[in-house]
Amino acid sequence: MKIAVIGTGYVGLVTGACFADSGNDVTCVDIDQEKIAGLRQGKIPIYEPGLSELVLKNAAAGRLHFTTDLAASVEPAELVFLAVGTPPAADGSADLTALFAVVDTMAPHLQSYAVIVTKSTVPVGTNAQIAARLKVQTGRDCDIASNPEFLKEGAAIDDFMRPDRVVVGVRRAAVADVMQRLYAPFLRTEHPLLIMSPESAELTKYVANAMLSTKISFINEMANLCERMGGDINDVRRGIGHDTRIGFSFLFPGVGYGGSCFPKDVRALAAMARACGVTPRMLEAVDQTNQAQKQVLAERIEQHFAAALPGRTIAVWGIDPMAE
Ligand SMILES: NC(=O)c1ccc[n+]([C@@H]2O[C@H](COP(=O)([O-])OP(=O)(O)OC[C@H]3O[C@@H](n4cnc5c(N)ncnc54)[C@H](O)[C@@H]3O)[C@@H](O)[C@H]2O)c1
Repeated sequence: MKIAVIGTGYVGLVTGACFADSGNDVTCVDIDQEKIAGLRQGKIPIYEPGLSELVLKNAAAGRLHFTTDLAASVEPAELVFLAVGTPPAADGSADLTALFAVVDTMAPHLQSYAVIVTKSTVPVGTNAQIAARLKVQTGRDCDIASNPEFLKEGAAIDDFMRPDRVVVGVRRAAVADVMQRLYAPFLRTEHPLLIMSPESAELTKYVANAMLSTKISFINEMANLCERMGGDINDVRRGIGHDTRIGFSFLFPGVGYGGSCFPKDVRALAAMARACGVTPRMLEAVDQTNQAQKQVLAERIEQHFAAALPGRTIAVWGIDPMAE
């Protein structure tokens, strides 16, 4: 299939390289001229195991191209993936400025049969808004699909090539068939492609990250309790993790979650909840516990150095709860 991927960041580059590797003709687009010039010379802007080899191999085979020309990449494309950033706005909601700028710019260049697939993490209703914007600009109903990405930085290629599941939100069965054909090479291990509505797919991404963040905040609160009550959190963790209903994953106490997705996605889901009149008590507690955990870390560091350097003044600052 002929594919354009708009936004050649973490998600866009991995997506483009993996789809090219399964035999598709992929063009990765970005507004960052330096990034595209570097990629054309084989310079990979991020480190991710296996990514460099995959990009170089598929570029050399003529299946993976890099450009800043949005119109020329969209015109022949059967599938257009949107993978631009959706950073947090001041109130925690997702900022969709870049995403809608891309939609508006590409609209006049779309083929009538192209499917617009959203890979970026976007609030519920965004795919419907994309379809509405495209209808205004093209005068016809455009096919859309929500296809959130679950890859982990550091294991991105492996996660993309062997996903636990692929989530696809569509309005029409024909679009589901296209997505099924595209992902078939990645699902040979019998892992499912789950078809649902675009709204459910959009929510699935946020709910997955909120669940994982909840586990981290939960175990950190339990670790703080253990410390006050004389228990050992590692023993408690083992004691609960062998219960298959609970399991071991994401139950390691530490400094709390960070990175580019969990903090922003928990807050964006909370903002969505508030906007539709639901008080997100759990999500707010998860976020607050996570921020407080940074303070716990700062106190531990202060205590450690105060013990090691008696009589000296120790101050720890600059622990940003939104940072990795
Ligand atoms: N990084 C992750 O681990 C991860 C995992 C799953 C989902 N996501 C989601 O995927 C989306 C992209 O994340 P990312 O980490 O790849 O972001 P990123 O910042 O690494 O990349 C975004 C890219 O889009 C480009 N861009 C911005 N405006 C553009 C425009 N108008 N035209 C063309 N290109 C444009 C930027 O120059 C940049 O290269 C976000 O919604 C994010 O929440 C990220």
